[in-house]
Amino acid sequence: MAEMGLMEKIVSLAKRRGFVYPGSEIYGGLAGTYDYGPHGVALKNNIKNLWWKTFVEARDDMYGVDAAILMNPKVWEASGHVAGFSDPLVECSNCKSRFRADHLADPDTCPSCGKKGTLGEARQFNMMFKTHAGAAENESAAVYLRPETAGGIFVNFKNVVDSFHPKLPFGIAQIGKAFRNEIAPRDFIFRLRELEQMEVEYFVKPAEWEGAFEDWRGRMHAFAKDIGINSVHELEVGDGDRAHYSKRTIDFEFDYPFGRKELWGLAYRTDFDLSAHERASGASLQYLDEETKEKFTPHVIEPSLGVDRTLLAVLASAYAEDELGGESRAYLKLSPKIAPVKAMVSPLLKNKPELVEKARDVREELRKIHPAIAWDDNGNIGKRYRRQDEIGTPFCITIDFDTLGEHPELLGTVTLRHRDTGAQERLTVSEVRQKIEEAL
Ligand code: GAP
Repeated sequence: MAEMGLMEKIVSLAKRRGFVYPGSEIYGGLAGTYDYGPHGVALKNNIKNLWWKTFVEARDDMYGVDAAILMNPKVWEASGHVAGFSDPLVECSNCKSRFRADHLADPDTCPSCGKKGTLGEARQFNMMFKTHAGAAENESAAVYLRPETAGGIFVNFKNVVDSFHPKLPFGIAQIGKAFRNEIAPRDFIFRLRELEQMEVEYFVKPAEWEGAFEDWRGRMHAFAKDIGINSVHELEVGDGDRAHYSKRTIDFEFDYPFGRKELWGLAYRTDFDLSAHERASGASLQYLDEETKEKFTPHVIEPSLGVDRTLLAVLASAYAEDELGGESRAYLKLSPKIAPVKAMVSPLLKNKPELVEKARDVREELRKIHPAIAWDDNGNIGKRYRRQDEIGTPFCITIDFDTLGEHPELLGTVTLRHRDTGAQERLTVSEVRQKIEEAL
């Protein structure tokens, strides 16, 4: 499928079916930004909710926060981002195009105009978006849009400890937007300037970091499986390539249609952040072990997941084509847990009030399990199924004359059609309800 332009197919389906639109499209777009449409935001929320449920709500050792995007700039000085959150930038002296030096196929040739020897020396370009708080536009009013959600977690470490007195190990989690002035945003929602992250900072006793690292490693693989991401590969990041705060990093990579690239990261951030914020703020960020009365700075394991890259990997894993009933079709094999629409109910004919009324009753019954039960009575039944296939709806339910008792032995039964196989079965509404409930 890769040779047939899988990426183009995904981008086109995402636009056509209301998952992802280019940002500010009617004005020609804005590089590195995308907007999520109705099915996209549903899919994204389902992924985020599953993550939150799995890693926050279902655990006693996790605490959620939602910190401000704008933070005191001292946060980013202490964290090392003002000095070091940069990418190497080169500019072509001929066409003035700018590139990331470490992404060039040939460092001597400008990828835009093709001239040789025009790219010049690389300089470090800081990727944080800078703006001003309040009416003054001077340096003392400068603030940054956060480049990672982690900063909002570290500055709330003391607050969470003071409010909840958690025992180590424990974690603080956050989902939210982050901003990076990427030199070359690209590959749809893979490399964005406005992105979203799901991050955990998991605080441990210094001697226990390895066990926690292994534990999170396993949990990240399990989450990938849970949301239907196929074949995640690990890359042990070498000494020269890790972020400034990390002593060990594993990149979780995915085979995107444009190559194997980083999906998520798992890092051992040591006590780098808490110690740096303690020095810079003057607040004590040490932890007092009530049992041993020992005071120390906890170490940190950080599983960091980009929401947009996750959604793209989910789409790429789910996209499938086959032949059904002599016609080719494209469909999304989304896990029912995250599918934007869980089931579609439809009357066989929309001009038969008795079918419509029964179908509406069935829909209301199924909505007791989940609100995302769609209604479609447009066009023929085959077309309705295809539309749902394309957005990954796992089940379609059709109400026909047999439901109303045309063949008395079938009274009250409906057709349940399965997305992946197109197989249909005749079931009672309560059997359908049970099947959907089990799948969610
Ligand atoms: N707090 C650690 C941190 O931010 P990172 O490796 O720079 O580490 C974590 O980013 C994750 O955020 C990445 O693995 C990726 O999923 C996502 N991410 C990073 N930059 C991104 C970008 N420009 N566009 C979309 N997602 C991005």
